[in-house]
Amino acid sequence: MKYNTIGGFRVSHGVKVLNNFRILLLHLDMQIRKLQANRQATCEGSVFRFCFPVTVIVAVTDHVHILKPIAMRQLLVNIDHVATLRNARGEKVPDPVEAARICEMAGAAGIVFHLREDRRHIRDEDVYALKKVVKGLFDFEMAATDEMIRICLDVHADVVTLVPESREELTTEGGLNMRKVEKDYRERAIPPFKEAGIEISLFVDPEPADLDICAGLGVEAVELHTGSYANAETPEVRRKELLRLRNAAEHAHRIGLKVNAGHGLNFGNIQLFLDEVPHLTDLSIGHALIADAVFNGLENTIRRMADIIAGRSTPAS
Ligand code: PXP
Repeated sequence: MKYNTIGGFRVSHGVKVLNNFRILLLHLDMQIRKLQANRQATCEGSVFRFCFPVTVIVAVTDHVHILKPIAMRQLLVNIDHVATLRNARGEKVPDPVEAARICEMAGAAGIVFHLREDRRHIRDEDVYALKKVVKGLFDFEMAATDEMIRICLDVHADVVTLVPESREELTTEGGLNMRKVEKDYRERAIPPFKEAGIEISLFVDPEPADLDICAGLGVEAVELHTGSYANAETPEVRRKELLRLRNAAEHAHRIGLKVNAGHGLNFGNIQLFLDEVPHLTDLSIGHALIADAVFNGLENTIRRMADIIAGRSTPAS
């Protein structure tokens, strides 16, 4: 699909762009930027919403065109390990809700949490408390069990990120086995989210065949698993993994999927990743940020990473 670019929008090639239409788009672009600056989740009386991807429907003469704004790279902070630290002593601190507030104040575009079956870090009551304070994107990471689907619908997350989960793992170990889950997702897991208007992102390895299955399921986004890149032990392996990610991002974008990414990203490997992989939208980062915050303070850490991701600074500056 080819596009013209007007303001922050992509206009499908072939749409006749009248002058008034161009002005309208530039106006909408400005409004969206204001919404972002104010961290407002909705825009009264408008046809767009803050959570990406924003879909804008504009009537031009008697036609209706659907336009997609260009993806903006932004940081979502995974706060699981604030809860890990709290649970280590069975106390109330550090509070993941307070962490979420600071992260957003420091420039995070949203908060991610993984409610695990064993509740080893985030607990049910955290989910509901977070919902009350998170102003940006509220991204509920979970395994697609009936129990989690029920909680996610009840709290009405903005985004659900579906991941594989096993009790023994220390952290999520790989992307979804798309061939294995495809039928179950199509018939059971995905329809309730679609009905509720919750954006779906599937955590996958950077493999074109998996991405094709995701597109076939009609989900909005994929989160590319960056663990193999982050954990590469030699420069050769790192380059190979980067190339895989780059190809996957291009493929996902081509077939209409929003490209998120995460796992193992840190101040040491983020810049190369950003330089090499196109079309990125939401980057989900947890452990390295909470670890860095122990020494530098959460606000400083988050501001630094949010600026790098948005292209306002580099790790070296
Ligand atoms: N994305 C997904 C799907 C994850 O499971 C995790 C780990 O919870 C992350 C991103 C964040 O990974 P990390 O804590 O290594 O930054």
